[in-house]
Amino acid sequence: MRVCVIGAGYVGLVTAAVLADLGNDVVTVEANRETLLKLELNSIPFYEAGLEDMVRRTRKAGLLRFTVDIESGVCDTDIVMITVGTPASEDGRCDLRALEAVAASLAALPPGEYFAVIKSTVPAGTADWLEDYLNQAAEGSSWEVVSNPEFLRQGSAIRDAVEADRIIIGAASEKAARTLQELYKPLNRTVLVTDRRSAEMIKYASNSFLAAKISFINEIAVICEKTGADVTKVAEGMALDRRIGGAFLGAGIGFGGSCLPKDLACLIHTAKQHDLRVPLLESVKEINDRQVKILPERLAHIYGEVSGKTVCVWGLAYKPGTDDLRDAPSIRIIDDLIKRNCVVKAFDPMLVARNKIAAMFAKIETYADPYEAAKDAAAILLVTEWGLLREVDWVKLRDIVNVPLILDGRNTFAPHEVEKAGFTYIGIGRGCSAY
Ligand SMILES: NC(=O)c1ccc[n+]([C@@H]2O[C@H](COP(=O)([O-])OP(=O)(O)OC[C@H]3O[C@@H](n4cnc5c(N)ncnc54)[C@H](O)[C@@H]3O)[C@@H](O)[C@H]2O)c1
Repeated sequence: MRVCVIGAGYVGLVTAAVLADLGNDVVTVEANRETLLKLELNSIPFYEAGLEDMVRRTRKAGLLRFTVDIESGVCDTDIVMITVGTPASEDGRCDLRALEAVAASLAALPPGEYFAVIKSTVPAGTADWLEDYLNQAAEGSSWEVVSNPEFLRQGSAIRDAVEADRIIIGAASEKAARTLQELYKPLNRTVLVTDRRSAEMIKYASNSFLAAKISFINEIAVICEKTGADVTKVAEGMALDRRIGGAFLGAGIGFGGSCLPKDLACLIHTAKQHDLRVPLLESVKEINDRQVKILPERLAHIYGEVSGKTVCVWGLAYKPGTDDLRDAPSIRIIDDLIKRNCVVKAFDPMLVARNKIAAMFAKIETYADPYEAAKDAAAILLVTEWGLLREVDWVKLRDIVNVPLILDGRNTFAPHEVEKAGFTYIGIGRGCSAY
């Protein structure tokens, strides 16, 4: 099929590359000229494992092209996929300005029969609105709009797109649903066809449920600390129950990233717009806001006064496998430490993440090496559980730091191994009632 993907971000570029790899003829429209220039040079503007190879391969095969011009991009295509960003506004409302700008450009296309798919995460009713808007504003054209929310995760985006647990198609007609089913057929995944509003809501409900699992286990972690239980063992035992499952049961400093916080905030906002009380969702957010403060607070509790102390932060990206800092807990933690007048030295393997944090905090020192970042530190704070940190030589590290103290914000390390090397280990919810 001929597909036009609008937006070459995490979702758009992965979708475009995967569809091109399946043999479709794909053109990607990207408004940011700097991004476009990089893409033309086969350089990916963010880190996602395997994506650069896939883009290079599909471009070489003539199946993937980039353009800044929406009209030439959409011209002669069967499907227009919208993947622009939908961030949360201050009050949690979903900011639809990028989608509205795309809508205005689509309305100005030459008359024709068009088929659009919203992959961006948008509130229930947005696809209905877009279809009505286009059919009214685009004289002589007919538009059909389908909701097809995306569930990929940064860090495993290609695998998630190719091996999706489910493909949700929210369509108002059988014909529209069939067109999209045809596109995804080669992936051989489970497909659920629903109405458009339910499809849009499935995305918000799914992300808010995952966020709730994290906040739930973080609530249990607080009780574990006071009762001497180890939340990692509790989660392990809970996960053996197939009704519960083990995913998203890691206690720690909470969730961040470009999706979970904003989608939860947007769902709460939607409920408020309808004068609904949603205490469960509000608690999920409240608990997450509490968790991100834990590490600096514990440090202050341990030392009494942290002003002037050198603190090493391991990990900046909101999770391993990406260089994305959107809503990353590291930002709030570093901000807190700097406000407490600490000297902050941060490690992250991703240059982009290091550069972004350096642009945010003038006083920070950044390192590509975890040992260098830990030099003379009064404490190490584990914020992002990069795999390479599991291989750390604790004995070597003990001679580098000023005080052998680790606050493990992701319960990544085995306490006895760290303690064997002479470190004091403090995790989250691991039976440490003193803090
Ligand atoms: N990032 C994820 O892991 C993920 C996962 C599932 C769903 N989503 C959802 O997918 C959507 C996109 O997320 P993302 O992380 O890919 O965003 P992003 O910010 O990385 O990418 C959006 C891209 O769209 C481009 N763009 C904006 N306006 C444009 C226009 N008028 N014409 C052409 N290009 C335009 C931007 O320049 C940018 O490159 C959001 O709604 C998000 O909630 C994201």
